[in-house]
Amino acid sequence: MSERPPPLHRIPPAIAAVEDYRPFARERLGEAAWAYFDGAAADETTAADNRAAFGRLRLAGRVLADLAGGDTALTLFGQTLAHPIVLAPVAYQTLAHPDGERASALAAAAMGGAMVVSTQAGLTLEEIAAATPAPLWFQLYIQTDRAFTRRLVGRAEAAGYRALVVTVDAPVSGVRNREQRAGFALPPGVEAVNLRGLQAPPAAAAGRIAFGTPLLEQAPTWRDLDWLRSITTLPILAKGILCADDATRAIAHGVDGVIVSNHGGRTLDTLPATIDALPAVAAAVGGRVPLLLDGGIRRGTDVLKALALGASAVLIGRPYVYGLAAAGASGVAHVLQILRTELELAMALTGRRRLADVDATTIWRG
Ligand code: FNR
Ligand code: LAC
Repeated sequence: MSERPPPLHRIPPAIAAVEDYRPFARERLGEAAWAYFDGAAADETTAADNRAAFGRLRLAGRVLADLAGGDTALTLFGQTLAHPIVLAPVAYQTLAHPDGERASALAAAAMGGAMVVSTQAGLTLEEIAAATPAPLWFQLYIQTDRAFTRRLVGRAEAAGYRALVVTVDAPVSGVRNREQRAGFALPPGVEAVNLRGLQAPPAAAAGRIAFGTPLLEQAPTWRDLDWLRSITTLPILAKGILCADDATRAIAHGVDGVIVSNHGGRTLDTLPATIDALPAVAAAVGGRVPLLLDGGIRRGTDVLKALALGASAVLIGRPYVYGLAAAGASGVAHVLQILRTELELAMALTGRRRLADVDATTIWRG
């Protein structure tokens, strides 16, 4: 195996847009880890469509608007953020860079934003919180062992996390053909440290594949949202909703926010692109709780389109992990800086001074 280059110390001029980080990340990650981070489910149709769907939308440029005093600030769950670009929960960041989630959380703080820390982070939720003044939200996978899950929630509360993001779209993982073909396995030293001590569920009966196994017999249901609501006072966001009925139901079960997401195309392939699913979900939510979106955000114009169609903020996954793999905390901060710059320029050129001015008329309708 050829020697992998070390993280960049200086950002080369070749990196002007967030996608420019991809080759720099790829050569530092190696093929198996690249398959994990960059890959998606099956034929990766949904992952590609997340991007293509943004590309199909056109913005309505506006001229001569008064732009004095403009900014990209917002308040979300009681926290003031400098911009609406949140770092999505991405597992095992110590596989991307030795500093792992600590570096990402530091970059979020430097850029005045928030980060969602994965249940499957490579560092403990406490050490990540200790490393940053950024507002952190904890992404929760409800485990088969509910007592363990409850202790995890207690740890997040004690460590000062400001919200719980319950991921509801991945009771089983997707068909990860790219990972399989690359022979991906976590190397020694990279593990989901926050899940240490969790008992492996009992083995499935012979001949059982998914149905009939403990994973699906005890998969979370709507009742678990009620249970979660009863054990914490933190705001709860449901992540992984694409359908208006599910959004309505999640609000009825007490969630404080909804994240339109298809897990970056990593769970069920041929789900719709998130930006295509957003309008119907936004109509159902009707402004009762904040709505967020992730999947395929690679440009400031993508952020603007999501806000125009009803999101209050967006999350990014792969782009910042590529910044992390290429250049550690400065790479993540640079990715946020690029997206924020592009968002401000796009707001200025569509005549929007503030996020509150971004509405459906920001999209060109012909
Ligand atoms: C993820 N995602 C994810 N989501 C989650 O709720 N918990 C997790 O642990 C992970 N882990 C994870 C690992 C990797 C390598 C990726 C790429 C993604 C999904 C993530 O939060 C987000 O929904 C997508 O990454 C958004 O799509 P983009 O921005 O990557 O296109
Ligand atoms: C993934 C899991 C960890 O997408 O959510 O890899």
